[in-house]
Amino acid sequence: MRIIVINGSPRKNGLTAAFLHCMETRLKEKGADVTYYDLSELDIRPCAGCCSCYRSGCCIYDDDAERLSAETGDADGIVIGSPTYASNVSGLMKCFIDRGHFVIEQLLHGKYAVTVATGENYGSRDASAVLNRLMTYSGAYLSGRVVFNAPFGSADIDKAKAERTADSLYNDISKKKSFPFQCLKHGIIFGAGIRPFVRKKGELYRGVTEKWKAAGICK
Ligand SMILES: Cc1cc2nc3c(=O)[nH]c(=O)nc-3n(C[C@H](O)[C@H](O)[C@H](O)COP(=O)(O)O)c2cc1C
Repeated sequence: MRIIVINGSPRKNGLTAAFLHCMETRLKEKGADVTYYDLSELDIRPCAGCCSCYRSGCCIYDDDAERLSAETGDADGIVIGSPTYASNVSGLMKCFIDRGHFVIEQLLHGKYAVTVATGENYGSRDASAVLNRLMTYSGAYLSGRVVFNAPFGSADIDKAKAERTADSLYNDISKKKSFPFQCLKHGIIFGAGIRPFVRKKGELYRGVTEKWKAAGICK
């Protein structure tokens, strides 16, 4: 079982990292093959908005966003965490979201995800909603969603909660748990929104339809 853990905080030893590392340790103890990434350590350029990936399937930049996106697409699960910045995810996380080939390419089709949003006071639910939408719109089953508030600078986490969340993710992947309501919601979003939009674009989105075919999402 392969799981990618992604920390979107610029602080490698902050609250988000503490929660994610606790989950990482637990998942490894259970036997999962886990790789942890700090986005702050990676070379990720902001999206240029050229849309050439839709046509060709490839980004114009060959940087860590491409490698991390490909690795995530090959994994069974993803744990994605961000601090709340101005009632949203961090800039680092947003930069990766824009570059990560998530929604249009259905990168997380059939995978299991956990989101972790940390904050200090108001707004962490908004950051969590951004991550949750990203996961479900990209085709993932949302196994867990954590919102955790603590004073800025603290790295005191609820260890039991992190371990419980890791256990659920591990069990959901092992048992290939189905999430009928999430499936239905995603079916509507994909079938009524994303697929007709992409089909209408024709050749301009050929890179996307090729990826759907390769992933068995569409013929
Ligand atoms: C620039 C900036 C903006 C922030 N905005 C919010 C906010 O809107 N709402 C909130 O609850 N916390 C906010 N915080 C606090 C952090 O989200 C919170 O302390 C978080 O747990 C830090 O995570 P980290 O230790 O992993 O970096 C902000 C912090 C910074 C540095």
